[in-house]
Amino acid sequence: MSRTHNIAVIGGDGIGPEVTKVALDAAQSQADKYGFTLNLTDFPQSGAHYLKTGEVLNDDTLENLKKYDAIYLGAVGHPDVKPGIIEKGLLLKLRFELDQYINLRPVKLYSGVDSPLKDVTPADIDYVCVRENTGGLYSGVGGFNMKGSKDEVAIQSMVYNRTQVERCLRYAFELAASRPRKTLAMVGKTNVLTYVFDLWDRVFNELGEKEFPEVKREYYHVDAVCMFMVKDPARFDVMVTSNMFGDIVTDLGAETQGGMGMAASGNINPTKSTPSMFEPVHGSAPDIAGQNKANPIAAIMSARMMLEFLGEQEAADDLDKAIDKYTATQPLTLSTTESAAKFMEILKG
Ligand code: IPM
Ligand code: MN
Repeated sequence: MSRTHNIAVIGGDGIGPEVTKVALDAAQSQADKYGFTLNLTDFPQSGAHYLKTGEVLNDDTLENLKKYDAIYLGAVGHPDVKPGIIEKGLLLKLRFELDQYINLRPVKLYSGVDSPLKDVTPADIDYVCVRENTGGLYSGVGGFNMKGSKDEVAIQSMVYNRTQVERCLRYAFELAASRPRKTLAMVGKTNVLTYVFDLWDRVFNELGEKEFPEVKREYYHVDAVCMFMVKDPARFDVMVTSNMFGDIVTDLGAETQGGMGMAASGNINPTKSTPSMFEPVHGSAPDIAGQNKANPIAAIMSARMMLEFLGEQEAADDLDKAIDKYTATQPLTLSTTESAAKFMEILKG
């Protein structure tokens, strides 16, 4: 396995470039410490770039990005760009075109972090949400009829084929099988969405029975899972769900682990035929951009996920320890540059 990793860096908008710098400094320091090479190449794609040039993500850029081992993305979204243009044209386009069919979102309470939940400790919140990342309500199947009239119709369909469902569930089963508790909770709505989640439910049970008998299977309706994520998060080990439900429940999960400043994610193509992309769950936060206020921890956590994905497990584990030590000892009120300096001090021991 090569230990030279070529990373495309899309800092993006708002606080994106600020937190990206901190995260990649930390990753670079791990490269020096553990003897691998990170080659970083900056890409300008963002809302600001779109306003300047009219490009969101053209075919040449997309082809070029395919040559990298991974993509690191800070955050995109610009107040002067109409909602949807950058989200669909850049972020979702990358997820779809690079077939990053898994969105992996750990929900983990680090030491010293205040959860809004009562009486919880880090032992109570430590699970992973596997969000399907290319289909469902995000497929873009639908349209308008009689648009603008009083009888107009708008349709947006939840579309899944068996292949999409099966590859997502297989990834989740493999992840659950690799963890000590070996428990996989599928989240759906089988009582109302009786076509789509009937398919999910059948594949879940068939696959579990045939290929993963060692994994304990559980099922939750999406509304009930929100209740348990608040009331009893300790019951979860690995959770798997559809794209839209995953989008919603991971914001709730992020809040329970101390907020968006603490939530990391990986958009993963497990086949590795195209690069995977790592990004903090938070957005570009234009209201605090350029003020040195952004918390870079979610970005560092996302860099940790990237190192793990690149096969640099020791460096990733060591980075994780530093994150935990940082959260255990430092207040959340530090500025971005103060956080960065403190973090690097802890990381370098
Ligand atoms: C996320 C975001 C995106 C999503 C938006 C920005 C398109 O909310 O990564 O969770 O809906 O997936
Ligand atoms: Mn979201």
